[in-house]
Amino acid sequence: MARVVVKDLFKRFGKVVAVDHVSFEVKDGEFMVLLGPSGCGKTTTLRLIAGLETPDGGEIYIGDRLVNDLPPKDRDVAMVFQNYALYPHMKVYDNIAFPLRIRKLPKEEIDRRVREVAKLLRIEELLDRYPRQLSGGQQQRVALGRALVRQPQVFLMDEPLSNLDAKLRVYMRAELKRLQRELGITTIYVTHDQAEAMTMADRIAVMNEGKIMQLAEPHVLYHKPANLFVAGFIGAPAMNFLDASVNVRDGEVELDTGVFRIRLPRSLSEVLVRAGPPSEVVFGIRPEHITVSKSPIPGGYQVEVFVTEPLGSETIIDFKHGDQLVKVRYPGGFEAVPGEKVYIAFQLEQAHIFDKKTGNAIV
Ligand SMILES: Nc1ncnc2c1ncn2[C@@H]1O[C@H](COP(=O)(O)OP(=O)(O)OP(=O)(O)O)[C@@H](O)[C@H]1O
Ligand SMILES: [Mg+2]
Repeated sequence: MARVVVKDLFKRFGKVVAVDHVSFEVKDGEFMVLLGPSGCGKTTTLRLIAGLETPDGGEIYIGDRLVNDLPPKDRDVAMVFQNYALYPHMKVYDNIAFPLRIRKLPKEEIDRRVREVAKLLRIEELLDRYPRQLSGGQQQRVALGRALVRQPQVFLMDEPLSNLDAKLRVYMRAELKRLQRELGITTIYVTHDQAEAMTMADRIAVMNEGKIMQLAEPHVLYHKPANLFVAGFIGAPAMNFLDASVNVRDGEVELDTGVFRIRLPRSLSEVLVRAGPPSEVVFGIRPEHITVSKSPIPGGYQVEVFVTEPLGSETIIDFKHGDQLVKVRYPGGFEAVPGEKVYIAFQLEQAHIFDKKTGNAIV
């Protein structure tokens, strides 16, 4: 087991800066997720740690060893890829045994370790089958087995579940998480799926354009996003953003979105005034933090329903704000026809306010 430290890591491909001065530390036994949109540098970061790419700057430590100059096979890491290509002509047993045979381990030890891993992954009955005789989830477990059997110090996983159908993916999430906790192997896991990141991670590094935008525990990213990027990336449906100008009068702050005048409660006003508010901000409110009702709400606003999206356990209600759609999440069913007038209110204690210019959170 080992911690992983990345210091000021930098990597470019020609003109493209793929990893832009990234630093983080993964604690011993921790499940760290790198999360971000396509092309933000997640895979490159992972490949640098594995030794499959050479950095243009920075340092990588595994345990207490600087590994920059070590070849992949000496880094004691195992990587699981999105395309976990098993050897089709080999049975499950031989697929898992393969990395140990390369290392020329004694036959008895190979057998013991393959069976141990198969038991752990609950694929003991599958050892005699060929990959084509397995379901996607079973194949994925075999691929994990092949990585696990080496007993690496660090697990690197690049979107290992993305080839599975939605239902199996959710199931395997829980399986993988349990397994990682049980084995306590330091893991760095790459995904662009925020729900996957939120449910699995001890901590998440949210990346954009080669940089880390925020690194924190899932609940911190959700409740205290450091900037507009993180606020918009975490949570589904995404946080609503309304541009607003700031009016301060007698220490009280009112935001004007052009449609709504939002009087902020004292607690938010104080923070904003103390920060010396910019004239233009972005008001952020999650769909679950807007109350909706068919009868007037004190301090609320009347809006026109654009469309409702019933999901069974909840209903997403959309209304227009200028040419923008605002989404409201209502627990349970909510019947309304397009054009119907309803009332909404913002749960302002849950609101976020960002500096429009820098994108950084003020509240
Ligand atoms: N071998 C390469 N040659 C040239 N450019 C590359 C190479 N590998 C990656 N890049 C570029 O570096 C940037 C980061 O790529 P990377 O694969 O790390 O992104 P990612 O976050 O894993 O994206 P995805 O979610 O799509 O897998 C991208 O702009 C990509 O085009
Ligand atoms: Mg990738």
